[in-house]
Amino acid sequence: MTISMDGVRLTDACTRTPLAGVRLRYRGTEQHVLLKLELHNPTGSIKYRTAIGLLYSMHRERPLAPGTTIVESTSGNLGLALAWLAGELGCSYVAVVDPKLPQRTAARLRAVGAELAMVHEHDEYGGYLLSRLHKVRQMCADGTGARWPNQYENYANPAIHYNTISVELLAQTGGRIDAVAVAVSTGGTLAGISECLRRAVPSARLLAVDVMGSVVMSDRAHPHLMTGIGSTRKSSFLRPSHYDEVWRVSDVEAFAYCRMLAQDTGLTLGGSSGALLAAVAKRLGSNYPRARNAVLVCPDGGENYQDTIYDDGWLTQRDALDSVLGMERYARTYGMSFAVEGDVDGRL
Ligand SMILES: Cc1ncc(COP(=O)(O)O)c(C=O)c1O
Repeated sequence: MTISMDGVRLTDACTRTPLAGVRLRYRGTEQHVLLKLELHNPTGSIKYRTAIGLLYSMHRERPLAPGTTIVESTSGNLGLALAWLAGELGCSYVAVVDPKLPQRTAARLRAVGAELAMVHEHDEYGGYLLSRLHKVRQMCADGTGARWPNQYENYANPAIHYNTISVELLAQTGGRIDAVAVAVSTGGTLAGISECLRRAVPSARLLAVDVMGSVVMSDRAHPHLMTGIGSTRKSSFLRPSHYDEVWRVSDVEAFAYCRMLAQDTGLTLGGSSGALLAAVAKRLGSNYPRARNAVLVCPDGGENYQDTIYDDGWLTQRDALDSVLGMERYARTYGMSFAVEGDVDGRL
């Protein structure tokens, strides 16, 4: 299949990923959640939609001629999507990555045609993002004509989520949404979904979920193991009006919830989805009103995390296994369990 950019419409990113119903039991209460399974996008994550939005906006600004090199920082998912779509357009893609990139993701990136440029220097927050962005700027300024989609500042990022996943959620639920939980990194997904739902379902509560150590939702930066969510820079898109609640979750909580979901249901999801489940559990343990129809936007599946979150050896090397197992035991003591209740729109 060849994508002609002039033929690309926003609806191409309307991938209509399924919603799966899951029942969560904890501390003597039950919460039903709908998991929007973005792993069913062609390149395995929600960033497929983001990549289409970004490429489309670049093309509108100046046509993306075949042979163009696209350079973008990625922790994996956006890179997979950009690499594949760039190939379809006859362009090439350089993924600016860091040593936290799981080997499996590096292999997948190469397999879909990405060239990898690795940065090794930590930024001032102990992460790598600012170093990666510095490298991207250098590569785009070296006179070779390389172009940068800039997922951190390009409003095509939130716009694609406003126009696609939000519309799907409204259609799939018939507008019956009481709460939506979204994990944040650039903040594009949350900003786009929030702006749509604030209009369409003003009563819906928007939950922002971040990893501890990230500065998106706090000012206390420290190194963390989680990839995909969290950031060492503030979101250019998010304003306080975009969310009603902020939940900050540790790496250990997110990993433990990923693993418990897998044990109970066989469904393996990425770390940010584990963070969403951990946030729901924390919310159940506090005095917040129960949301009847709660949607969790799950950005990706567990495939890229088999050699990290789901690997005891990897956790042991990072001194995290005992804490993750301890967290699982703690939650199980309070009756934590998951059960799949079936799909909502017949696609699973
Ligand atoms: C694993 C993961 N978690 C969370 C997100 C949400 O990211 P953003 O805030 O950049 O929209 C993404 C985006 O792709 C992701 O890949």
